[in-house]
Amino acid sequence: MNFEHKVVWIIGASSGIGAGLAKAFAAKKARLIISSRDNATLRSLEQQLAGHTGCTILPANMTDRLALVHVVERAMGIYGHIDIVIHSAGVGQRSLAIDTELSVYNQLMEVNFFGPLAVTQYLLPHFRKQGHGHVVAISSMSGLMGFPMRSGYVASKHALKGYFETLQVEHTLDNFYVTIVSPGRIKTALSMSALTGDGTSYDKMDKGQLNGIPVDECADRILKAISQKKKHVIIARSERLLYWLRILIPAAYYRIARKRGLDNQ
Ligand SMILES: NC(=O)c1ccc[n+]([C@@H]2O[C@H](COP(=O)([O-])OP(=O)(O)OC[C@H]3O[C@@H](n4cnc5c(N)ncnc54)[C@H](OP(=O)(O)O)[C@@H]3O)[C@@H](O)[C@H]2O)c1
Repeated sequence: MNFEHKVVWIIGASSGIGAGLAKAFAAKKARLIISSRDNATLRSLEQQLAGHTGCTILPANMTDRLALVHVVERAMGIYGHIDIVIHSAGVGQRSLAIDTELSVYNQLMEVNFFGPLAVTQYLLPHFRKQGHGHVVAISSMSGLMGFPMRSGYVASKHALKGYFETLQVEHTLDNFYVTIVSPGRIKTALSMSALTGDGTSYDKMDKGQLNGIPVDECADRILKAISQKKKHVIIARSERLLYWLRILIPAAYYRIARKRGLDNQ
């Protein structure tokens, strides 16, 4: 697929995978809308992309559900249409279920599930009217199996995958595509902002995160999946093995996932 002049809205563009995607799409001469809560970081990204591409900052907070309808209207108004929306906003978790307050589950579900759900629901009528649209959901291997210290995160990513997979099955609009991306560990600062049991930030880089797949490699693979209109892509190293163990030798999955999850903090 040629991304030149395509309008790509990246939510969660201020860091990590979202920022990597913004750079990769800019290199392909796409027109960008970049969103997150952190205006200062978005401005610095916009400056880095200047000269490559059209790029507009649109502040958005995934937990402010009532405001999201207006955010979508503003996004639609910037270039008059949207070709691709990418849900990369997300927050991680590092706490055992038994130590996790209910409010933390709410927060994880708001950012990782209800925010992307609301934006997509508001966009669908626009996609119908314009006759095309592509939604990309950055889920996780945690949307495919359980993993220690991430009960709420895993639940939110299962919900995300369930919603988007159902959209794929319904497929009621022509020229409408959904790509679900399930990364394993990617080298971003996700664990820094991950929520602990009382809702404070974990503030540490995990061993696993530090040794993760580089962001630019992950972004290139996501662009390839989008251009091929893939329904689902896994971007992972040994986590992929864990996924197959869960299906083929469940006892080994429970043992190894428990050990890896508790050791790799
Ligand atoms: N890194 C991995 O190993 C990995 C693996 C599997 C899946 N993922 C998924 O990949 C996505 C991107 O994560 P990342 O690794 O790139 O982490 P990251 O660098 O921490 O990026 C998270 C992004 O989400 C945005 N965000 C967080 N809360 C938000 C809110 N309430 N409203 C709007 N934006 C919000 C952040 O921007 P602001 O703080 O500026 O709002 C930031 O741009 C997430 O959905 C994550 O679950 C990551």
